[in-house]
Amino acid sequence: MQNFDYYNPTQIVFGQERLNELDNLVPHNAKVLILFGGGSVKRFGTLDKIKSSLGKREVLEFGGIEANPQFETLMQAVELVQAENIDFLLAVGGGSVMDGTKFVALAANEKSNHNELLFHGFEVVPVEQAIPLGCIVTLPATGSEMNTFGVITYNEQKYPFTSPLAFPKFSLLDPDLTLTLPKEQIANGVADAFIHVIEQYLTQPQNAKIQDRFAEGILKTLIEDGPITYQDKTNIEARKNFMWSATSALNGLIGVGVMQDWTTHMIGHEMTAMFGIAHGRTLAIVLPSLLRERTEQKREKLVQFAERVWDITQGTDDEKITKAIDNTEAFFNSLDIVTKLSHYDIDDKDIETLISNMARMGLTQLSETGDLTLDIVHKILVAAK
Ligand code: NZQ
Ligand code: ZN
Repeated sequence: MQNFDYYNPTQIVFGQERLNELDNLVPHNAKVLILFGGGSVKRFGTLDKIKSSLGKREVLEFGGIEANPQFETLMQAVELVQAENIDFLLAVGGGSVMDGTKFVALAANEKSNHNELLFHGFEVVPVEQAIPLGCIVTLPATGSEMNTFGVITYNEQKYPFTSPLAFPKFSLLDPDLTLTLPKEQIANGVADAFIHVIEQYLTQPQNAKIQDRFAEGILKTLIEDGPITYQDKTNIEARKNFMWSATSALNGLIGVGVMQDWTTHMIGHEMTAMFGIAHGRTLAIVLPSLLRERTEQKREKLVQFAERVWDITQGTDDEKITKAIDNTEAFFNSLDIVTKLSHYDIDDKDIETLISNMARMGLTQLSETGDLTLDIVHKILVAAK
């Protein structure tokens, strides 16, 4: 295991019927801006409940943050925050709203060059002050509610950013708020959370037993309770486990002291930017093909994944690996996620364009060791046709 620091200050408020506790979570004298997406929180009454929980505080609203949030939209929120001297941001939504709110929090104290904030990748953005924020999660998927990351679309490209100042002060996770989600969003969330775990776990052995066993526990829980949540709205216990899995998958805990391989995400982000395919679905297309291509580099962990996550104990190592990858793909398919590019009419020419966009973004040395070139990305995508 490698040396590491671990710090996560986000207070998690988990469970049903807890929205009324907002009054204690948001500072009493705060002037609050509630940020939300395309309207689901209004349509389903969540916004009204939140406003009444906030009591007599002065509360403003900013709606219209789109899925894969756009820089220009968020800059309108930044202007509002500055003009109104807002001192607390409350994100109500999924990853897009939470990420967008983090960006607003970081950009609001900056005078100019806001787009510069997007060009630091996984290096911490050079910002010294941010507006504090809290999250109310309506879509379990990204883990944004308990991490420092965001992803913003700018000039038709997706840009990740990170800052410890973007940690939410609190995140409220009420499974009842997710009951209005269309089924396909549950499937997207299961795939996204599953692949967050995989990208921190399925690299090379690090003798990081706690991280490995936590990761395996999250994967097994997603395999068990993801499909139940997808099929059955009435099973709130499964939904709770799915929700906490998604948060646990990307709150940093399983990623400490180990190698990480975010190749699937880097390719997936480009697919969303180019073809508008939902984030979780892009990952489910790339991952099985990537694992087949990278069997040699990931051999030991793939065998461990087969044995401990899929309970495959019979056969040779190669047979175990093949079955584990097939099971993973079948798992996505069982959630009605198609794992082939042809389903989206993506052809060889599109793949070429995608590769050149990745080159332009500097995404040329991927994987846990930096040895995964764009030629290999090309092979992975051709095999996913
Ligand atoms: O906009 P509204 O009307 O609210 O509808 C949303 C949106 O259209 C809808 N929705 C959310 N909660 C709902 C609901 N509909 C009915 N009932 C509810 N309770 O769901 C749609 C998708 O929402 P979105 O927030 O875009 O989805 P998700 O949570 O999957 O977030 C995806 C974004 O997160 C980024 C992705 O790149 C993408 O931009 N990521 C962020 C990460 C992070 N911060 O750590 C890591 C991830 O890997 C990911 O890259
Ligand atoms: Zn993701």
